[in-house]
Amino acid sequence: MYEQISHSLLNEILDDLKPEIKRQDLRHFYTRLGANFYAIHNLFQHLYGQREDFKLQMLHLVETLARKYINRLEYLEKLDIARENDHNWFLSQKWVGMALYSSGFAGSLQDVAIKTAYLQELGINFVHIMPILQCPTGKSDGGYAISNFREIDDRIGTLEDLQAVADEFRKRDILLVLDVVVNHTSDEHEWAQKAMAGDPKYQDYYYIFDNREIPDMFEQSMPEIFPQTDPGNFTWNETMQKWVMTIFHDYQWDLNYSNPAVFIEMLDVILFWINQGADVIRLDAVAFLWKKMGTSCQNEREAHLLLQLMKDCCQVTAPGALFIAEAIVAPVEIIKYFGEDAIIAKECEIAYNATLMALLWDALATKNSKLLYQGLKSLPDKLDRATWLNYVRCHDDIGLGFDDKDIREVGYEPYAHRQFLIDFYTGNYEGSFASGVPFMRNDKTGDARISGSLASLAGLEKACASGDEKAIAGAIDKILLLHSIIFSFGGIPLLYYGDEIGTFNDYNYLDEINKSSDSRWIHRPKINWDRAELRKKPGTIENTLFSSLKKMIAIRKEITAFADFNNRQLIDAGNQHLFAFVRFDFNRPSERVLVICNFSAEPQHLNLQTMSYSGFKIYSQLTDLYSGKKPTIFREHLVLQPFHFYWLSEY
Ligand code: GLC
Repeated sequence: MYEQISHSLLNEILDDLKPEIKRQDLRHFYTRLGANFYAIHNLFQHLYGQREDFKLQMLHLVETLARKYINRLEYLEKLDIARENDHNWFLSQKWVGMALYSSGFAGSLQDVAIKTAYLQELGINFVHIMPILQCPTGKSDGGYAISNFREIDDRIGTLEDLQAVADEFRKRDILLVLDVVVNHTSDEHEWAQKAMAGDPKYQDYYYIFDNREIPDMFEQSMPEIFPQTDPGNFTWNETMQKWVMTIFHDYQWDLNYSNPAVFIEMLDVILFWINQGADVIRLDAVAFLWKKMGTSCQNEREAHLLLQLMKDCCQVTAPGALFIAEAIVAPVEIIKYFGEDAIIAKECEIAYNATLMALLWDALATKNSKLLYQGLKSLPDKLDRATWLNYVRCHDDIGLGFDDKDIREVGYEPYAHRQFLIDFYTGNYEGSFASGVPFMRNDKTGDARISGSLASLAGLEKACASGDEKAIAGAIDKILLLHSIIFSFGGIPLLYYGDEIGTFNDYNYLDEINKSSDSRWIHRPKINWDRAELRKKPGTIENTLFSSLKKMIAIRKEITAFADFNNRQLIDAGNQHLFAFVRFDFNRPSERVLVICNFSAEPQHLNLQTMSYSGFKIYSQLTDLYSGKKPTIFREHLVLQPFHFYWLSEY
């Protein structure tokens, strides 16, 4: 949009730019800057317009974008242009992700490069390498307490090693996903150290207070994130004799985004990693970016404006790169991180589908899909040019963040139902198959979250310990059932490393002083590569899981109806144990897939006559894409074995 104030400011900025910036061939940069400048100016003005140094900060911002553009390697710029021309590229069904810790998965970054063939064997082409940046030993929060945003932790490797991984990935058409922890730094970060030494410039990078007056006011409305280990949201700093806002651990200092210098620094960091070859940046803890007294300090409007500004700026320098929003918040809030009232994602193109994840665990425990169906029905459609990251497990806990209204709607009482789920998964429910552990029990609220590996939560650990073959087969079925949904639902499925071979809980964390109070370490495994070798040996659990997932992935990649264009219709299956939806391809009406899943331990029937609209007429002509067989039909009823699924198609 052309608008005079923005345009004349842009002209002024262009005149003031340093000569080395003006000299370069910046044709694409200038066209994109011209296109986005109105929005950038407006957002920056809204956030920082009251400051005397506003214009100077605006100049810094544009200089940052230009410098990073100049540094962008030619092949990355070509990629930007190719992706601009094919703007829906990331909605394709061809993408299948995995999140992994380089140390746990392979050892070092060099080892990740070597093990890329394993990922490719499974069909993975979107790899989130969990935080790799410098962190203090011990006080690391699993890599999310960064002490240097531009240095790779030397226990993991070097920038050259990362380059080698990026090259290897590119050769194999695998996307590289890296974290930028935007909300906070470690207290050992240079900025925090300078703040501690009394430098006011850097004290203004954080929320620092002389006494408890303001912290106490904030505390009245802020929830606690790690209540068991780090109660409260502020930490007393002995050196400064001041209070620091620390929403997560006491060593993670929250950055102050009401200071534009912080925004520009962090944008520079994001662009730095994009220029190192990251295709996708996972923005950590984005819900917390803006703090406002009297609120929960989550999901504030300004947090969204900051993300829009980050997106608009990145589109100028590196439009091919995508953002993932890590916002594990209420269902209606998560979807806002795509950006509201738009077609194109104005904030992040991808968001963690924490709602689906939690609902899947609900269905597995209750053996019915009532809440799964209701919760998804309440979830608004995503934007056209945005997509979900659908996952079953990740490095974090499982939070039961579904909506109370939906829980009541299906006939449960929210508090009691959540308690049931916590008990079910953490060993306090008789007859449960799961072996998980609680995470961050909050005695004040009775709340808790759940830790545990997929295999252990789905019953494989217990089943193997008892040697009960039937239970082992049942646990494998559950693991595959959950994956059959994330592969077909619409969005990018994200596997968690180790799950493809059924990795159990790792209890060793209990012996490590820096880990024992954080149960999430139970599911951050070190891969046993001897076990992984068993994937090649028929009859083993590893082989069954790996080859089944590999097959599902390969099928997914061929089915255009599995791409993500809001082309899904949930179906009321008329049987609460079954969960069903249809996926279709707008361009090829005949290419439809009916997904049906049985969450019960008993065989279930689906009455084809009474089932609400699915678009299919002759069920006898359907084939299950996964097994290649016709589904079992008995007197107009489709039959599903316990914990089984169908991907039914007319092909
Ligand atoms: C994100 C990370 C989590 C971390 C938190 C604080 O939620 O996924 O592991 O503890 O941010 O950085």
